[in-house]
Amino acid sequence: MNIPPIAPDRLPELLRCMPKAELHIHIEGSLEPELMFALAKRNGLVLPYPDVATLKQAYVFDSLQDFLNIYHAGTQVLRCEQDFYDMAWAYLQRAAADQVVHAEIFFDTQTHTGHGVEESVVIQGLHRACVDAQSQLGLSASLILCFLRHLSEAEAFDALEQAVPHLDKLVGVGLASSEVGHPPEKFARVFAKARSLGLRLVAHAGEEGPPAYIWSALDALKVERIDHGVQALKDPALMARLVRQGVALTVCPLSNLKLRVFNKLAEHNLGQMLDAGIVATVNSDDPAYFGGYINANFTQTFAALGLSAQHAYQLAHNSFEASFMDASVKQAYQDRLNGFFETFE
Ligand code: ADE
Ligand code: ZN
Repeated sequence: MNIPPIAPDRLPELLRCMPKAELHIHIEGSLEPELMFALAKRNGLVLPYPDVATLKQAYVFDSLQDFLNIYHAGTQVLRCEQDFYDMAWAYLQRAAADQVVHAEIFFDTQTHTGHGVEESVVIQGLHRACVDAQSQLGLSASLILCFLRHLSEAEAFDALEQAVPHLDKLVGVGLASSEVGHPPEKFARVFAKARSLGLRLVAHAGEEGPPAYIWSALDALKVERIDHGVQALKDPALMARLVRQGVALTVCPLSNLKLRVFNKLAEHNLGQMLDAGIVATVNSDDPAYFGGYINANFTQTFAALGLSAQHAYQLAHNSFEASFMDASVKQAYQDRLNGFFETFE
């Protein structure tokens, strides 16, 4: 669709109000400090920070690993099904306020089973929030189980096996956690098994790691989308492949800024990706830690890069296109998006 230019001061409102899908959000990364303290209290736990303000001061990171250490500490407060429900429900309400009409939500179970919480407790709590999001917010939400790549293949197989009784509550599997030194191919057999169970496949690749990890996520894991993938621009042959095959990248600009993948938002390569014909999308990754939900990612990145209403349309269109919804549902959301752009003034 051809989008006429709009006045620059109208762009933030367009970005905030356009319907969109979010495809890269770790639900544990949406746990706001206030809720973290409330859950700690409810579960009789003491956090290693005296209050919310002190905890927030610790949210300064110099790498993915630096962030993951704090992020994993925060997950300690999640103990029972209601905790997972409350965390997911808080995210879904915020997402709905940002005009997210569809979300594909990452979660992991290995962190929680490591704390003695059963996998079914995690999945049931999150799933119940997704069901309520549809009926109460009109937001469709599905779940993607991420394996932790710093752990072993055997542990990933265990996580998958424990999820099998809940296959009807999952749309896919992904791969997250410390990237550098943990190339995707270690999980080729787990991903093949997940695929044979009918699950869709995604993986984090090319966040901090090299383009080679994106190649192997595609070739060894056979993923359909790449999470982050910002390092792809270093490899023209890879870029050509991503464009040719229409492989979507779920890009998270504020995450990249906070984890020092780019020094400034103005240096982010999202605009170059779109201009090259990549199916890029904008997402929040771990919004409670990175300073903003999806609309903050849109508005700040558009301001820094000088992107246009045409780019906004493309990104929202891509978010539905790259989703794991049925073709007819995707089309209905894209029709709604077209209607929004036709009537926005
Ligand atoms: N888990 C949560 N956020 C992540 C990220 N940005 N990269 C890898 N694993 C993660
Ligand atoms: Zn992520």
